[in-house]
Amino acid sequence: MNLLEAPPPLSVGPPALHITEPRAPVPMIRQLEAHDADAVFALRRAALADRPLAFGAAPKTDHFASREAVEAYLNDAPERVLFGAFLPGADGEGALVGMAGLGLTRHSKRRHRASVWGMFVDPAARGQGFGRALVEALADFARTQGVAHLDLSVTDAAPEAERLYRAAGFVEYGRLTDSLRVGTERADEVFLTRAL
Ligand SMILES: CC(C)(COP(=O)(O)OP(=O)(O)OC[C@H]1O[C@@H](n2cnc3c(N)ncnc32)[C@H](O)[C@@H]1OP(=O)(O)O)[C@@H](O)C(=O)NCCC(=O)NCCS
Repeated sequence: MNLLEAPPPLSVGPPALHITEPRAPVPMIRQLEAHDADAVFALRRAALADRPLAFGAAPKTDHFASREAVEAYLNDAPERVLFGAFLPGADGEGALVGMAGLGLTRHSKRRHRASVWGMFVDPAARGQGFGRALVEALADFARTQGVAHLDLSVTDAAPEAERLYRAAGFVEYGRLTDSLRVGTERADEVFLTRAL
């Protein structure tokens, strides 16, 4: 360092502005519980209405057809697991904007496999990492239960979901043409699996 060097001039005027890109909210993911039943019921209804051919279930025969059924399901841990994605709120947790289920089984010969079902993110919250965070939360939870493989299926009515799953390491092991019909529309189903 040159000790004879003149000190830098004092800065005057307002401090420089640092303009940064707006940040996507950090996904808040947790396992859903019975007290979440109202929000889960509303989001499930939105899911089945948003993309009928993306889900095997129909609103009238869905296992979440009533709020009470949702609450009963959420009370029936540990085989019935549902994770939710929340927007950050003023006091920590904001609105439920996404969810995905993990189907474990009581049958000892199949405890090493679990299925992913019901993946949905509210259209207004898409493209911000909630879907990916839900998949990884399910995978992390499944590992703690001794699960070695995650299985799921996705129809060709849900190309974003198929891309999400493939990007998360799922690989295809089968296809079923004409798997679902809604009115005159049809969808094929792709079966995917991921080793944990
Ligand atoms: C599929 C779904 C859950 C994705 O949720 P999301 O929060 O928007 O997803 P993310 O922001 O975490 O994106 C993760 C990956 O998904 C894929 N993806 C998400 N949106 C996509 C789009 N519009 N087009 C193509 N790929 C997309 C990409 O691979 C993305 O990774 P990238 O950002 O590195 O490209 C959401 O679009 C959805 O609810 N769709 C309707 C319901 C549905 O199809 N459910 C699946 C039933 S099996």
